[in-house]
Amino acid sequence: MHLSAYVGFVSVVFLFITPRPIFAADQTLDPSLVADLRMAATMNDRLHLLSDHQLLYNFSTNPMYSWKPGSVCNANAATWPVLSTVGATVAQLNLGPCAMLAPHLHRADNLVVAVSGTTHTYMVQENGARLVEQILTPGMMTIFPRASVHTMYNMGCGNTQLYSFLNDADPGTLNIAQAFFMMPKEIGTQVMPFINLTKRNWTATGQQIPAIGTGSQEGFEACRKQCGLTT
Ligand SMILES: *[C@@H]1O[C@H](CO)[C@@H](O)[C@H](O)[C@H]1NC(C)=O
Ligand SMILES: *[C@@H]1O[C@H](CO)[C@@H](O)[C@H](O)[C@H]1NC(C)=O
Ligand SMILES: *[C@@H]1O[C@H](CO)[C@@H](O)[C@H](O)[C@H]1NC(C)=O
Repeated sequence: MHLSAYVGFVSVVFLFITPRPIFAADQTLDPSLVADLRMAATMNDRLHLLSDHQLLYNFSTNPMYSWKPGSVCNANAATWPVLSTVGATVAQLNLGPCAMLAPHLHRADNLVVAVSGTTHTYMVQENGARLVEQILTPGMMTIFPRASVHTMYNMGCGNTQLYSFLNDADPGTLNIAQAFFMMPKEIGTQVMPFINLTKRNWTATGQQIPAIGTGSQEGFEACRKQCGLTT
C-alpha cells in the first residue's frame, strides 16, 4: 500500500516532467532507409545503401537494454534496417535475478538458446496441446512454434542471458494478460466468473498488470526472497 502509493506518485511526477518513453513496441529507427532497401532490386544494390557500420548490430545500444528487471532487445526490421528485407529477427534476452517474461506469443517460429544462467520455460502450443516445460542451461535450445504461448523465468540470483531467433523481421509480441483485459468486461468476466475485480472495475483491474516496459518483469516472491531482493 505504502510502496504502491509512492510508486504512483513518482510515476505521476514523471509523466509531467518528461514525455513518457515509448516502450513495449520497437520504434522504427530509419523508415526512409527501410523504404530504400525495400525498393532496391538486388542484395548488391542494398549493400551499396549500407555502410560496414550498418552491418553490425550492438545489442547494448537497443533502447530496451536493461537488467533491472531485464529486457528483450530486438534486432528486427524496426531496429536494424538491414533486416527489413531478410526474414529474421534476433532478440537478446537479458534476465536479472528471478526476472521473467510474461506469457506472450509471436507470429513467427521462435528458437531460444541459453548463453548463461538457468532459465525455466513453459509453452502451450495450441488448444488441446500439453504444457511443455524446459530448463535451459548454456548451450541448450528450445522451440516455441509460431503463435504458441510461452513464458520463462530466471531461476537464479545472478543474471541470465539467452538469444531468441525468429523467422520473420516483424514477428511482433503479444502479451496475453494485457490483450485479455482489452476485451470488454462482459467477455472477461464470463471467461473468469470467479475474478475479484478491484473496485468492481475491469479497466482498473487490468491496469494492475505489470507494464510491458522493457519486455521483462520482476519474478516470483519466493525467488526474490531467496535472493535477498525483498525488503
Ligand atoms: C556497444 O554499445 C555499448 C553501449 O553504448 C558500448 O558501451 C560498447 O562500447 C559498444 N560496443 C562496441 C564494440 O562498439
Ligand atoms: C476481493 O478483494 C478485496 C480487495 O482486495 C478483498 O477485500 C475481498 O475480501 C475480496 N473478496 C473475495 C471474495 O475474495
Ligand atoms: C474504472 O477505472 C478506470 C481506470 O482507472 C477509470 O478511468 C474509470 O473511471 C473507472 N470507472 C468507474 C466506473 O469507476
